[in-house]
Amino acid sequence: MKTGTRDLTLMRLLNISVTLSPFLGVDSQQFQASLEDGMEAYWLSLPATPHGHLAPLLTQWKEKFCVKLNVSNPAAVAWFIERVSSLCTQLNVEYLVLEGGERNPFEEHGLRPPKALARDKYIQLLAGVATRIRNSAIVTAGTSSSHMPLFLSMLPLSSDWSYSGLKGLIPSVLHYSLLGYSFFIPDAVGGSLSKELVNDEELFIRWLEIISFLPVISFQTPPWLYGEDRALNLTRTYIAKHRDFVVPLILKYAEEWKTSRNPIYRPLWWVSPR
Ligand SMILES: *[C@@H]1O[C@H](CO)[C@@H](O)[C@H](O)[C@H]1NC(C)=O
Ligand SMILES: *[C@@H]1O[C@H](CO)[C@@H](O)[C@H](O)[C@H]1NC(C)=O
Repeated sequence: MKTGTRDLTLMRLLNISVTLSPFLGVDSQQFQASLEDGMEAYWLSLPATPHGHLAPLLTQWKEKFCVKLNVSNPAAVAWFIERVSSLCTQLNVEYLVLEGGERNPFEEHGLRPPKALARDKYIQLLAGVATRIRNSAIVTAGTSSSHMPLFLSMLPLSSDWSYSGLKGLIPSVLHYSLLGYSFFIPDAVGGSLSKELVNDEELFIRWLEIISFLPVISFQTPPWLYGEDRALNLTRTYIAKHRDFVVPLILKYAEEWKTSRNPIYRPLWWVSPR
């Protein structure tokens, strides 16, 4: 999001969601400044010569060359948290998404043990950073972090009826649940993998019906795409059902989860083993 030239007073009327990652573009001013300030150890780096200076490791994120924050360096983490917190305060951010903790083969190749962070350590440390920024931030990857006050966003699905689309939704809910993640955010109604609007109204409706039973309903395809009646009416109906019927149940089982750690979403065999 570019905010530099916008009138922030107008934005205060909206609930703002900001998506950030631990990556920084190598062509950015901040990266150049960090090198001038001798902060190369803030980025995952390797010694350039046996006793020489550290050289930040070049990696890729969203098709751009980047460096990645060294989350095991306390000074780097403090620097990151300070900047993100001030951005959140300035914009009055409602939702913070911290993505990019996922393993990156490109970077793993460069950071072979013993120099590397242990395989999944990065994801775990980044989740810790997210909880230090705010309660209930949203992360896109999790490992050993199911006890942390975070939402985990599920992988985007394709907009079709297959197991990589609609049919994959329930198996993936049970998968997250049994791994201990009960507070997940499913992909937008109809799937968002293709970044295009969903043309199949029936698919949209079936998807909506399932998602209304999950913790969060989000949209990428607006329900009025299909005209003024069926899908739009059903969307209103299911949002009301979610609010009035599902949310109280989630709260009830979340209360139970606090002591028993039983998943909120349970497979049939959990409820009825025989
Ligand atoms: C990250 O920072 C820590 C602490 O400054 C340092 O020991 C470690 O080598 C760094 N790791 C990488 C991969 O840059
Ligand atoms: C949509 O809901 C409104 C109000 O409940 C109702 O009057 C209308 O007939 C509904 N339309 C359809 C197509 O179901």
